[in-house]
Amino acid sequence: MKFKWEESLMYGVEPMDTEHERIINQVDVLYDAIQNHESDEVILETIKFLSKYVVEHFDSEEKLQKKYAYPEIESHKQIHTDFKTLLVI
Ligand SMILES: [Fe+2]
Repeated sequence: MKFKWEESLMYGVEPMDTEHERIINQVDVLYDAIQNHESDEVILETIKFLSKYVVEHFDSEEKLQKKYAYPEIESHKQIHTDFKTLLVI
């Protein structure tokens, strides 16, 4: 399975769409690295980048949700908090 960004995933809100696209592209890079049996260092660097970028993205997304008074901001924030506990780096 490959991870591909596609128009149907867009919300029409920047920078969210650009950030989501970057995350999906990096997941695809990670997938390829694993499939191609890249070194542990290469795979770990990709995971580190993704972990850091996802947390930055969550902050960015929460600011946007606050700015536009997104009605489900608290429950979405909890999803982010729960996801962050899965990050090992
Ligand atoms: Fe997001």
